Amino acid sequence: MSKRIAVIGAGPSGLAVLRAFESARAAGVEVPEMVCYEKQSNWGGLWNYTWRTGLDEFGEPVHGSMYRYLWSNGPKECLEFADYSFEEHFGRPIPSYPPRAVLHDYIAGRVERSGVRKYCKFNHAVRDVEWNAETETFTVTVTDLAAKKRVTEEFDYVFVANGHFSTPNVPTFEGVEKFLGRVLHAHDFRCADEFAGKHVLLIGSSYSAEDIATQCHKYGAKKITFSYRTRPMGFDWPESFSEKPLLTKVVGRTCHFKDGSTAEDVDAIIFCTGYLNHYPFLPDDLRLETRTSLYPPNLYKGIFWEKNPKLMYIGAQDQFYTFNMFDAQAWYARDVVLGRIALPDYDAMHADSEAWVARNGELAGADQMIDFQTDYVRELLEPTDYPPLDVDTVAKLFKEWEHHKVEGILTYRDRAYPSVITGTMSPSHHTTWMKAMDDSLEAFLNQPASQAAE
Ligand SMILES: Cc1cc2nc3c(=O)[nH]c(=O)nc-3n(C[C@H](O)[C@H](O)[C@H](O)COP(=O)(O)OP(=O)(O)OC[C@H]3O[C@@H](n4cnc5c(N)ncnc54)[C@H](O)[C@@H]3O)c2cc1C
Ligand SMILES: NC(=O)c1ccc[n+]([C@@H]2O[C@H](COP(=O)([O-])OP(=O)(O)OC[C@H]3O[C@@H](n4cnc5c(N)ncnc54)[C@H](OP(=O)(O)O)[C@@H]3O)[C@@H](O)[C@H]2O)c1
Repeated sequence: MSKRIAVIGAGPSGLAVLRAFESARAAGVEVPEMVCYEKQSNWGGLWNYTWRTGLDEFGEPVHGSMYRYLWSNGPKECLEFADYSFEEHFGRPIPSYPPRAVLHDYIAGRVERSGVRKYCKFNHAVRDVEWNAETETFTVTVTDLAAKKRVTEEFDYVFVANGHFSTPNVPTFEGVEKFLGRVLHAHDFRCADEFAGKHVLLIGSSYSAEDIATQCHKYGAKKITFSYRTRPMGFDWPESFSEKPLLTKVVGRTCHFKDGSTAEDVDAIIFCTGYLNHYPFLPDDLRLETRTSLYPPNLYKGIFWEKNPKLMYIGAQDQFYTFNMFDAQAWYARDVVLGRIALPDYDAMHADSEAWVARNGELAGADQMIDFQTDYVRELLEPTDYPPLDVDTVAKLFKEWEHHKVEGILTYRDRAYPSVITGTMSPSHHTTWMKAMDDSLEAFLNQPASQAAE
């Protein structure tokens, strides 16, 4: 009987797995039967925007953490699929920092064309995965949300690709329960217009804090205060921004910070305090326990659950690289499943991952982190037939991007970079990011008639 694979999640990671196996099938290789369970009604993961927050129409936790007006926060050239360029998808080169809808179109276009939709079961939430040592199979229990039915199936391999930027990490602070304004986590942030004219306090000093604050500024927020735990971001913020150390207490609408200073008349507090790796459907002995990390422990090659490598995690690490790293993982994992790459024994796998974990612990600064993840992706790609991806050039672009952010946090998205895949230089966008208020695909791709006439 042919082997069976379950993929949990049809976001970019799960779709990379489907695409990897399908490309082998297209080349005439016999591949296992695939079933991809996706709890949302369509694919794309976080890129599949939802206006909902809290619980969805089935009473399930809403997966989406993306918001309206979300534009890529890194150059698209750093995430481009080596087997499907932006130019191939859009029929022409496009600017380097697309909004969410454009990236969703790109992700979906590749898998739509490769015909893998037939493997996806949408509105299916995975509830439980159990390993049966005797049969060496996994029993996967899923709820068909629309039919309100539980279904159980057997699989030889399970790919965990449910993402880890959906379950909010929410600390608490003295007095926050009596705060006289809105309190939310970034996971529930949807639209910056709501904060026009407001004083917004953002807790955290990473990508969500930086991006949600600049969105709020762009759409008319009066004042932005950041509160950092470890260190300030230190960008060239507009005058209405300030960075404070950690919040100690909230009294009415006044926020007090560790250095004794305060922020007055705060209208809203947004917790940009990151996310938890959360795998509620996995038993204790198969479940990855980690904070957000560039190299989570106990995963050989950042993929294989060392105590049972038939369980594989895709995209479980913190991410500089995204779509193309998920591809590298999917191609490598596929080749293990197909018997093209042999796994060493547990001790060797664990020693290997421990060395990566230790190296991760020594990293200082963004450039070293970029080099670290570049080395990781390079190592995965080397034995596979994934089309050539020059990761040294990707790393160079990532470093330029970091420096461009330092040069102008409100202008870095106006930059353009060459494609690592086709070599074509991207055009500048027709409108600078601060002035581009419409984030639709149509507005991004089509120059406004008023500008075209100029
Ligand atoms: C606000 C925000 C902005 C981001 N912006 C960028 C960016 O600009 N550029 C970039 O490269 N990356 C960005 N990212 C990073 C993002 O993590 C990746 O781009 C990518 O979406 C990760 O893909 P994934 O498939 O691993 O996870 P996800 O995209 O989270 O997809 C996981 C899928 O699994 C499904 N799922 C979850 N649980 C179950 C279950 N029990 N049963 C069935 N299905 C389930 C979900 O519904 C979802 O479709 C951003 C992340 C966030 C939170
Ligand atoms: N496209 C976009 O524009 C965009 C926008 C938003 C997010 N994203 C993506 O979303 C992902 C998640 O980013 P993120 O910023 O949400 O998470 P993150 O990078 O994990 O950062 C979490 C932040 O929360 C802080 N924090 C955690 N616990 C805290 C506590 N108890 N008290 C105070 N501060 C605390 C951390 O501080 P320490 O530094 O002290 O640990 C850190 O600054 C990233 O991949 C990012 O690229 C992209």
